[in-house]
Amino acid sequence: MTRSPIENSPVGSAGPDDPDDLLALAARLAREAGTLALGGRRGSLLERHTKSSTTDLVTQHDRAAEALIVERIVAERPTDAIVGEEGAAREGTSGYAWYLDPIDGTTNFVYDLPAWTTSVAVAHHGTTVAGAVYVPVADELYAARLGGGATLDGAPIECSGEFDLSLALVATGFSYQRVLRAEQAASITRLIAEIRDIRRSGSAALDLCWTAAGRVDAYFEAHLNSWDAAAGELIAREAGCLTSDFDGGPADPSNIVAATPGIHAALIELIGRSRP
Ligand code: IPD
Ligand code: CA
Ligand code: CA
Repeated sequence: MTRSPIENSPVGSAGPDDPDDLLALAARLAREAGTLALGGRRGSLLERHTKSSTTDLVTQHDRAAEALIVERIVAERPTDAIVGEEGAAREGTSGYAWYLDPIDGTTNFVYDLPAWTTSVAVAHHGTTVAGAVYVPVADELYAARLGGGATLDGAPIECSGEFDLSLALVATGFSYQRVLRAEQAASITRLIAEIRDIRRSGSAALDLCWTAAGRVDAYFEAHLNSWDAAAGELIAREAGCLTSDFDGGPADPSNIVAATPGIHAALIELIGRSRP
């Protein structure tokens, strides 16, 4: 897996370029690509293909949305690197890298459920500088830049004030790999009695944004990729969440926790106890 912008240096330098310009570009790309995918979903027959397993889907709209974002980045920032879920892999020389998930929640997209997003993040030498997550069906845009707070449709957002894990609403997700999802489910069966309830939206980026906005109190998931988590992790952190891996180290897509500060430590301890 390509090194994630959230693996090692969550609070490093923002780089020489204006972070507000980078955020504006990320937001514009997320909105434009998500709108393209939504229009495509409503206007044509779906071509479904499978990827890593028989349940891991991709459609022509995932590919078209990614292609649009790549075309725009290449035109506007030709020396930046690009890493996209649907195969975009471009080397760069500027120190900046873009992480794209054109449709995060493709299963929902295929079933015409509303919880899917377009996620765009840009990192400078491994530090996420700006991120945008667009929810086309709801026409909601979550955004953040490093040190600048997080917003929903331009208005500041904050994580919840919950401090009692037993009252916490916690989002999570599951891998497309059978063995891994069975392990994840086993862990949930232990954990669920200790919290208010579980939510599984089907979009990791949305889960992170819901945590940022206090729509849930926390989120955790293992086996993500950098394109799933990069934008949402920054948005959650800028909204006041603590983000980390399952052991409290730097957030990592292979095992990520985002939680309101009052329950972060207790959730990590519970995740540790609940491992199969
Ligand atoms: C998936 C979603 C889902 C998460 C999976 C991801 P995709 O991404 O984010 O919520 O549980 O692990 O792979 O395939 O819909 O882009
Ligand atoms: Ca994804
Ligand atoms: Ca995707």
